[in-house]
Amino acid sequence: MVSSFQNPRGTTLPQSRRIALAELAARHGVAILEDDPYGELSFAGPPPRPIAAAGQDNVFYVSTFSKTLAPGLRIGWLWGDASIMRKATICKQAADLHTATLSQRATVALLDRFDYAAHVARICAVYRERCQTMLAALAEHLPGGCRWIAPTGGMSVWLQLPAGLDAETLFPGAIARKVAFVPGVAFFVEDHRRDFVRLNFSNQPPAQIIEGMRRFGEVIAEGLAAL
Ligand SMILES: Cc1ncc(COP(=O)(O)O)c(C=O)c1O
Repeated sequence: MVSSFQNPRGTTLPQSRRIALAELAARHGVAILEDDPYGELSFAGPPPRPIAAAGQDNVFYVSTFSKTLAPGLRIGWLWGDASIMRKATICKQAADLHTATLSQRATVALLDRFDYAAHVARICAVYRERCQTMLAALAEHLPGGCRWIAPTGGMSVWLQLPAGLDAETLFPGAIARKVAFVPGVAFFVEDHRRDFVRLNFSNQPPAQIIEGMRRFGEVIAEGLAAL
């Protein structure tokens, strides 16, 4: 489960529900795999406390440098009960013959010389501003009937289109205006809803985001007119 700034919805499990979930899983002998690639990208205070921080031996934690350093490094980590870690290591080696040692060494060298905490604080400030810009631009430029979740961290906004619109049908018109989004259907396991989109805000400066959302609003208005 993705506990903080979930992809695609941007939602965060409140602390009380984290504790309740961990207790429930322990009572029923169920393991929790906490997938936390976005937790450090917190805009409203320190990162939420991971479920795994309580140290329960049925909770495993995975994270990555993909969202804070570079996705191309392909470096992440797993934390959990030592007996499982050994087995997980063997399984991973069987699956991919190990994470490249060169990129691991490069990452260690980088972390030795570079102020990672200051870097994360800087990108959080940049992403916070971009997120706020996108939320304001959505409110200003989108036609009525659109709904979205305001995230407090992460990289994207999850948005529901007005009834009757299909994100994939709108996509070519958006691309023609040089605006890209991820049609939400890709995120559904069942009940493949076609009326959601995931909008990224981390990648562009505020002025581009405002113009992009203005154009996105036009695309939606055209879609509504064609219904
Ligand atoms: C929830 C979640 N877990 C994991 C990942 C991928 O991380 P990595 O690049 O380390 O494979 C992503 C990336 O988008 C993600 O959204």
